[in-house]
Amino acid sequence: MSEMREHWSGSLGFVLAAAGSAVGLGNIWKFPYIAGENGGGAFVAVYLICIAIIGFPIMLCEITMGRRTQKNPVGAFKALSPRKSHLANFIGFCMLFTAIALLFFQHYGYAVVLLILGSLVIRYGWTVVGIVGVFTGVIILSYYSVVGGWTLGYIIKSFSGELTYVKESAASASFDAFKNNIGWVITMQLGFIFLCALILLKGVRDGIEKWSKILMPLLFFLLIVLILRGLTLPGATKGVNFMLSPKMSNLSAESILIALGHAFFTLSLGMGTMITYGSYISREQNIFMSTLSIVVLDTVMAICAGLAIFPSVFAMGFKEAAGPGLVFNVLPAVFNSIPGGLGWLWAGLFFILLAIAALTSGISMLEVVIAFFVDEVKWSRKKAVIITASATAALGVLSAISISSWNRLEWLHIALVKTFGVESTGFFEVMDKLSSNWLLPLGGLSIAIFVGWIWGTKKAVEEIRHGSHNFADVHLISLLAGLKDDPSHNNSKYHVLTLASMWGIFIRFITPVAVMAAFLYEIGWLTFK
Ligand code: PHE
Repeated sequence: MSEMREHWSGSLGFVLAAAGSAVGLGNIWKFPYIAGENGGGAFVAVYLICIAIIGFPIMLCEITMGRRTQKNPVGAFKALSPRKSHLANFIGFCMLFTAIALLFFQHYGYAVVLLILGSLVIRYGWTVVGIVGVFTGVIILSYYSVVGGWTLGYIIKSFSGELTYVKESAASASFDAFKNNIGWVITMQLGFIFLCALILLKGVRDGIEKWSKILMPLLFFLLIVLILRGLTLPGATKGVNFMLSPKMSNLSAESILIALGHAFFTLSLGMGTMITYGSYISREQNIFMSTLSIVVLDTVMAICAGLAIFPSVFAMGFKEAAGPGLVFNVLPAVFNSIPGGLGWLWAGLFFILLAIAALTSGISMLEVVIAFFVDEVKWSRKKAVIITASATAALGVLSAISISSWNRLEWLHIALVKTFGVESTGFFEVMDKLSSNWLLPLGGLSIAIFVGWIWGTKKAVEEIRHGSHNFADVHLISLLAGLKDDPSHNNSKYHVLTLASMWGIFIRFITPVAVMAAFLYEIGWLTFK
């Protein structure tokens, strides 16, 4: 193709677009309820550690791969993979052997999945990580758009004066009725996907970047308004304490796993979103600093979301561990209990905030799939947007239908239970667990191993150095000691402990070991039953 690849207009455009991807339902809907269910402060602490030792290093890998290759995840892996990778072959064969073993134990569903994956790995090597990433985009968006649709529905409900209850029981009855109104839920969900598609049709700079630049500041502003409202209520400190003072006794081993999965989810890692967004960066930008800004913005937004929610929840005497219904059930009731009669306004603002967050993340998932079809299959952008959005909508409708109960989709339920042998609460949960607990962490682990050992940190750092003004080579010890420009410290021969070398150690050893440890635990936990 002779056409030039579109690029962000500058660092700010990229950082806001990527932060738009990272800051989403994960931060504002999911993080508060998983923190609520897993004991608050202690969970937040573990989550922050996961972000630092796993999230940041992997995000830098993805962005570097994207900028280096200027391609979608599949193209990026294809371009950087060696012709033959013994490790990939080894992994592929291990998968096949495991599949055969599983057949003996009559776990047919998993066996077939592993059989297909193993053969793909042997045939296509590391590129499979990119291929799985493209599928993951569709899988996540299919259920993400359901919640995105709920949010749109709740904006309408707030401003039309329907959210007037103050009791949690009335709130959950209303939420249940809303979820079960399938026609309405699906309409809203399709509306959400349609909005994503509209932005994506405009392309990278006039679509994604332009809208991120409008929506992200608005999102931050709304968050501040809601935080101020919450914190000025009497009794709000209880909510702040719940979030920020860690009680380690509240933490279970499973919480650690949830924190790890969430670190991937909230930073949009493990499926190539950041490879795709990174592929629209030009080589003059400082990707080290951009990565840091994105990670910090995402973390700050998650903490802010907690501070916008828990102080009000505690001040108004509601329960914090309300699960996925926390923001849809509890919050409207919380806002309505605030004296002043402006409950509809607080609720309305909150759901607008949630919708914005969801929209900028939704577009990033679909962009991965679109970039794949545009780069690899040579479709026009328009064709790619229309087809991928329709396919996601079709899968998403299954998610929406299964949310109220499995009864409407009995055949699918039976098929899932038969093949995978797990009784699950809904297609929605299956999709969420599959992506947050498996696909994203596994994708992230593969990306770390690929960059650390196959493509190699040496080549990666060479790429990072472009535009980073030797930032990567800053001597950490000198920097911490305040001797950054001291000539004897700045002799490049002795630069051992630099930011780049620290990152290399993380990506080669610490990050993979941490993710792998979590997996071993998870597998043990699965066979435990
Ligand atoms: N990071 C988004 C959130 O926190 C979710 C997401 C996951 C977006 C994967 C893109 C890719 O809501």
